[in-house]
Amino acid sequence: MSVASSNRIVEAIQAAHLSLDPSMFAENFDKRGFHLDHQLAGHPLLELSAIAALSRRLPANLLEWNAERDGAFTKPNKLHPHHLSCADTILSLERQPARVLLLSIENDPPYKKLMDELLDQIEPLTRRSHPGMTQRQAFIFLSSKAAYTPFHFDPDYNFLLQIRGQKTIFMWDPLDRYVLPASAIDSYYAGVGSNPLYANRDQKYREEFMQRAWRLPMRAGQGVHFPLHAPHAVMTESDVSISLSITFRTARSQVGAMVHGANWHVRRFGITPPEPGRSRVWDIGASVGYRGVRKAVSLLKRS
Ligand SMILES: [Fe+2]
Repeated sequence: MSVASSNRIVEAIQAAHLSLDPSMFAENFDKRGFHLDHQLAGHPLLELSAIAALSRRLPANLLEWNAERDGAFTKPNKLHPHHLSCADTILSLERQPARVLLLSIENDPPYKKLMDELLDQIEPLTRRSHPGMTQRQAFIFLSSKAAYTPFHFDPDYNFLLQIRGQKTIFMWDPLDRYVLPASAIDSYYAGVGSNPLYANRDQKYREEFMQRAWRLPMRAGQGVHFPLHAPHAVMTESDVSISLSITFRTARSQVGAMVHGANWHVRRFGITPPEPGRSRVWDIGASVGYRGVRKAVSLLKRS
């Protein structure tokens, strides 16, 4: 065997960070939450010191943290004046409760390589039912015991991988319209709200929702899949938690985003439109029309 081919095998083994069962994956992907195993615990890029160094390299607008008296309990944000830098907050996480969010870490080449190794393992399993993987992104979440991420949904397919500590994820069926009305998803994609990118993903939570939740505890070495738009809330159970999130969109979710945006406008006329995936004719018409209108509006704004 040549040195080049043996190097390729070593690289392939190093890149095989996830343990995935293809038939279980095919049965559950984008339908319900499920567990997977990974071999990333102890990965040098996912130690606190490496994450602190990453926070120094990332642009400030990709960092959100909270480390003051209520460190674990307040949402991380970048607007609040902190007495500790993001890097120092990360380095003192074992001694002082905090929450830290590093957004779009794929902007940093070593982390992009890691994200691609992980998503390259997932992509062949999604290709058949959800072709056209696009907009790959990765995030790191650090938190302390009892930190709570409130009920919300996300616009991407997600695999949350627990690197250190434990969390419990409460997740709901993405098609359960009692907990997440289609109109809430429509308004997100139509950009309605003070911050169209984030604010209106947070949803009103009601106690009775808990009876319908899937409870998915997750310890280091495990990961959980989040279907597109599956509402969820997350509780940190351990003193220190490190989680890596790898996300992507697909051709289907891109069309769905346009249909949801168009549907928000249609609802204003008292019409209940079909949700994405229910009518091929509506999906094509609404997505093409909405894309065209958005393009025209942005051209008008620019001129
Ligand atoms: Fe989320």
